[in-house]
Amino acid sequence: MTNREHFGSRAAVIMAMAGSAIGLGNIWRFPFIVGEYGGAAFILIYILCCFFLSLPILLSESIIGRRTHQNTFGAMSTLAPGTKWKWLGLLTIVTPIIILSYYSVVGGWSFAYLLKACSLQFNPENAEAVTGMFATFSSSAWGPLACLVVFLGLTALIIFSGVKKGIEKFSKISMPVLFILIVVIAVYSVTLPGAMDGVRYLVKPDFSKLSAGAFSAALGQSFFSLSLGVGTMLIYSSYIRKDENILASGTGTALFDMLFAILAGFAVMPAVFAAGIAPSSGPGLVFETLPYIFAKMGAGGQFLSSAVAILFFLTILVAALSSSISMMEVGVAYMVEEKGISRGKATAGIFFVALFLGILCSLSFGPISGVKFLGNTFFNACDKLCSNYLMTLGALMFSIFVGWKMDKASVHDELTNGGSLKGNSKVFPVLYFLIKYIAPLAIAAIFITGLLA
Ligand code: TRP
Repeated sequence: MTNREHFGSRAAVIMAMAGSAIGLGNIWRFPFIVGEYGGAAFILIYILCCFFLSLPILLSESIIGRRTHQNTFGAMSTLAPGTKWKWLGLLTIVTPIIILSYYSVVGGWSFAYLLKACSLQFNPENAEAVTGMFATFSSSAWGPLACLVVFLGLTALIIFSGVKKGIEKFSKISMPVLFILIVVIAVYSVTLPGAMDGVRYLVKPDFSKLSAGAFSAALGQSFFSLSLGVGTMLIYSSYIRKDENILASGTGTALFDMLFAILAGFAVMPAVFAAGIAPSSGPGLVFETLPYIFAKMGAGGQFLSSAVAILFFLTILVAALSSSISMMEVGVAYMVEEKGISRGKATAGIFFVALFLGILCSLSFGPISGVKFLGNTFFNACDKLCSNYLMTLGALMFSIFVGWKMDKASVHDELTNGGSLKGNSKVFPVLYFLIKYIAPLAIAAIFITGLLA
């Protein structure tokens, strides 16, 4: 495949992969999950999961992707021709489209909140009304739908522009900007009166608060946050050159992602405490509590608080976009390379499928909230199906494939660039052990617990 695109440099690889990893998972999901599972002790488990379970999966996907330089389906068919492994390739094309559909609903909300921030709706006069704004907005029909279309449309536009001009360019600009923004907001948040309780909550572990569910929640969060188990990292790695060090780019990505999640924790949690809101208030945490805080702060200076609010929702939007493009790319690469469909048509096709599902997800917060699947709204059903089952299943299969189906020599070859990366050769036995035994066993245990729950 000589005409395939490649990321231009090491920095570009890390920026694109970090772009996929860093998103709503870090800013919207991480803080409320930490709040639900009790703070610092949960964060410690999360960090352990990232290193010992998620990093091996990330490397497994990287190994498959870079080895073949193909889309998920092509990669599986090349490495295990004529076997059922190609179904794993197909699974990874369906799952990201489902994730894209509900992710885009939340992406749409961030866009809506950016507009609200720009029109100065979070001001001291309506501070009390701001919290309720979320329920009113998300349960209405047309506003969220319009925002969903905008968000998915932007995603499609970037993907249509291609790997180098679209993905690489967008991520290279957006990632550094994001880091600056989140640091600014974290500093602002930590200096609010009463914020220190929030800081303590994030750094002083209380292990007595840990529930059994914390482990599976931590693993699930780290998979979601690192975009694992659905072929996203596989496809990005397939755009990495042969002379690049995939251990370095993988570890770099995991570190950035973790750092960003923790920074997001510091941006959100101290503010939550400063406002006297319960950290365990769930998914509404970011959209309900922060505007309230921005509104309250407005009393001390409307200009500054509006600026911070705008920056904050812009951060979420940009982070969400650099992730949603990675979900769309998996299916687009498949259609272009396996089916010979043009990039434009493939992008449009996925746009419409995701839009159709996304509309149902969005409406399930209001007009069709009564339609339930096994007791879940359409949005929750999609999220549960993907995060509790399909992603875990995919991650498990990737590690089994690399640990047990591929021969050890090829895995070594890929991780060490034919043995030329001496440092990588040294740590190879540890990595291989993690990929072959630890990751599949631990993930299987958690998967089964999930099935029983
Ligand atoms: N990791 C992204 C986030 O934290 C979301 C994401 C991108 C994702 N691609 C994915 C999640 C694939 C699951 C699967 O927001």
